[in-house]
Amino acid sequence: MLFIGIDLGTSAVKILLMDEKGKIHNIVSLEYPLYFPHTGWSEQNPKDWYEKTIEGIKKLTEDFDKSQVAGISFGGQMHGLVVLDENDCVIRPAILWNDGRTTKETNYLNDVIGKDKLSQYTANIAFAGFTAPKILWMKNNEPENYERIAKIMLPKDYLAYRLSGVHCTDYSDASGMLLLDVKHKCWSKEMMEICGVSECQLPKLYESYEVVGTLKADVAKELGLSEQVKIIAGAGDNAAAAVGTGTVGEGMCNISLGTSGTIFISSKSFGVDENNALHSFDHADGYYHLMGCMLSAASCNKWWMDEILQTKDYGKEQEGIVKLGENHVFYLPYLMGERSPHNDPKARATFIGMTMDTTREEMTQAVLEGVAFGLRDSLEVARSLGIKIERTKICGGGAKSPLWKKIIANVMNLKVDVIESEEGPGYGGAMLAAVGCGVFESVEEAAKKLVKVVDTVEPCPELVEKYEKQYRKFARIYPTVKELFPVIE
Ligand code: XUL
Repeated sequence: MLFIGIDLGTSAVKILLMDEKGKIHNIVSLEYPLYFPHTGWSEQNPKDWYEKTIEGIKKLTEDFDKSQVAGISFGGQMHGLVVLDENDCVIRPAILWNDGRTTKETNYLNDVIGKDKLSQYTANIAFAGFTAPKILWMKNNEPENYERIAKIMLPKDYLAYRLSGVHCTDYSDASGMLLLDVKHKCWSKEMMEICGVSECQLPKLYESYEVVGTLKADVAKELGLSEQVKIIAGAGDNAAAAVGTGTVGEGMCNISLGTSGTIFISSKSFGVDENNALHSFDHADGYYHLMGCMLSAASCNKWWMDEILQTKDYGKEQEGIVKLGENHVFYLPYLMGERSPHNDPKARATFIGMTMDTTREEMTQAVLEGVAFGLRDSLEVARSLGIKIERTKICGGGAKSPLWKKIIANVMNLKVDVIESEEGPGYGGAMLAAVGCGVFESVEEAAKKLVKVVDTVEPCPELVEKYEKQYRKFARIYPTVKELFPVIE
């Protein structure tokens, strides 16, 4: 049997083909455009996602026995608002997870409805990128579009809908809408009322490993696949990546260094950070997790390399970096504002500390370190809740850099376990498909059998001490400069 895992990312869709032993047979990645129509806005066309996914599945399976494909599932970029009208036409481009346009609506939810109430209804407070503030934004700014909304869904759910015809979502992804009662796994009546939406506009809820339907006849024909191929609900990309790295069950940790940077802590019991700095979401294994999310992680390095240094040779730029823990240059990684823990869409990226002898390498190092310090901010919140973490898995494009992994291990004082396959969300998606098709009894069983740790990056005590001092300096920069961000807007 073969399973297809679709990682619907922000820059590309990455699709992989896995067998029931967890072996990856093929990977296809296809890019699509990302639009920034105004500063701080971020949009994509759902049509692009679907077209590239169909093209990608065709390429992925062309040299394989298509009759062996049993199931398809997903790990999708979270929080994006996709709205369809009564004819199933997309009403406007999707408003993505890193879009910061909803300051007014987020403040209304947090300050007028109140953080306590939001936390009671959903286990979370409002962040600019979450889905509910975007619905309110549409209501306030595009009332004619808002009136036409027949179906609301998340990015990967749009793919599931086009493939199966079922309007569905899963609990992990739905958690990031601020419409789900995360603890009780149902839509929150209060939040629906606040946003002016009804349950019939919202997708049906499933566990991530549950079958929602099968391939529609016309799509099966186009792909050359059987109509019996099962569509499994899938998960938000972070929960799917956690599955793909074996971060399931109690007290496991995963760091994802993708466009966003996340620290994900799995738990068998429901819990909320009382300041709501970390998100409290359902997990794809049927349980729960806490998560901190930075809006720009590997994307900081990509921006620095591609746009500023104008190079594609990331490895070469990192070769000259040797003096770890002693950099005078610091970098605040807030290219798209910041989510965890600052919740500040107006925050901006900043270099500070340069002198006439500052080198190119030190600037590059500051970017890598700034992202690690940003992740450490969320780890500090978790530690303040009494959560003890000694080791973490790692995945995402940034995890390909040995230097970055070393910096993360030492800045966070964590053992970093490297997995055989770094394909977090895609691999997790394929694993969820295998569970949905009955190959494994549970997500935990699949993770135990399929995920292999191949290396561990150990923190070194002297470097941890140096980075501790560096982190204390970093932690003072944002509070000192934050008042300036609205001024320089
Ligand atoms: C998580 C988040 C990001 C996106 C990236 O809350 O917003 O990690 O899911 O695709």
